[in-house]
Amino acid sequence: MPVSGRHQRRALDSDGIPVITTTGLTKVYRSRGREVTALDGVDLHVREGEVYGVVGQSGAGKSTLIRCVNLLERPTSGTVTVAGQDLTALAGRGQRANAALRQARSRIGMVFQHFNLLSSRTVQANVELPLEILGVSGKERGRKALELLDLVGLADKAKAYPTQLSGGQKQRVGIARALAGDPKVLLSDESTSALDPETTRSILTLLRDLNRQLGLTVLLITHEMEVVKTICDSAALMKGGRVVESGTVSELLATPGSELAAELFPVGGEPSGPGRTVVDVTFHGEAATQPVISQLSRTYNIDISILGAAMDTVAGKQVGRMRIELPGRFEENVVPIGFLREQGLQVDVADVRTAHDTASADAILKDGAQ
Ligand SMILES: Nc1ncnc2c1ncn2[C@@H]1O[C@H](COP(=O)(O)OP(=O)(O)OP(=O)(O)O)[C@@H](O)[C@H]1O
Ligand SMILES: [Mg+2]
Repeated sequence: MPVSGRHQRRALDSDGIPVITTTGLTKVYRSRGREVTALDGVDLHVREGEVYGVVGQSGAGKSTLIRCVNLLERPTSGTVTVAGQDLTALAGRGQRANAALRQARSRIGMVFQHFNLLSSRTVQANVELPLEILGVSGKERGRKALELLDLVGLADKAKAYPTQLSGGQKQRVGIARALAGDPKVLLSDESTSALDPETTRSILTLLRDLNRQLGLTVLLITHEMEVVKTICDSAALMKGGRVVESGTVSELLATPGSELAAELFPVGGEPSGPGRTVVDVTFHGEAATQPVISQLSRTYNIDISILGAAMDTVAGKQVGRMRIELPGRFEENVVPIGFLREQGLQVDVADVRTAHDTASADAILKDGAQ
């Protein structure tokens, strides 16, 4: 299978040390006698140089996760390691450890949904703020801030005030400020949710460019699958404080029954009647160019209906999905489905209704493959 440059890069990285690791991360909020388990044993591994997206419904624990990663929120249990440093070990162990934690945190850039800029300060002074806290001299602060504003395309706005900027420009300032401490990682909680689609795209492009140019690792929270599709190398799905699915986007797309894959790349189409088998076929790379459907039809002398189909670029790779219908029930189509799998295609039987049927369908297919 041909491997693009980007995926080669990631294959190399996969052997490296993860930049962000959480193990058994748990956060229980207690308020007025009630307990809310916002995080319930989260193990996260974000590799150096990747853009990692966390998705999930409201209340799933996404923001809590990101706040625990930079220890703005103290986890109830579990560990957080960023760039080789165990932040949980530093937290709350006296003055010196707290100073070390502040130092470590200043190297974790954070971008917010509502920008959080100080309206009384100029754009440049907003970017300089974290450098002031770090005790960087005035001259050096100015130089660094202007360099960062140039990097985010706002060199001409240094003397402007936040109220004079558009939403997208404000977020660029937020990103420049997040980069002031030369972070290894950038955390972003819904940083494009307050922006229109076009501005969202330009901010995503900026994040992707920074990721590539600076080797910056990005952990971002989003509720938009489009964001994952556009810039993420890997993704995790959270539900009820747990990570229920995670992996590189390619791995997820290749995982039968993956909820994330279905949302990243939905393909619709209802069966034309009972007693038919509906199959979702996913094509990656070379397989997309082979005439497998007509081969299938000819080899087994069956009529195949295409119920839905789409091509898309996901994580920089061409992927195709097709929902097809074969005459007859699943049991009668074990051999044609096996044929598709032998062609290197990913095949998910879509019309199996119950878990029991899924189990038996899998068993039949395994037997069929032997
Ligand atoms: N400070 C807090 N005190 C008590 N409960 C909290 C607190 N912060 C969050 N929670 C609860 O923890 C759970 C997870 O919240 P969190 O903000 O992490 O969700 P989220 O996935 O970011 O949601 P959204 O998509 O709406 O931003 C929710 O049930 C929420 O009510
Ligand atoms: Mg949130």
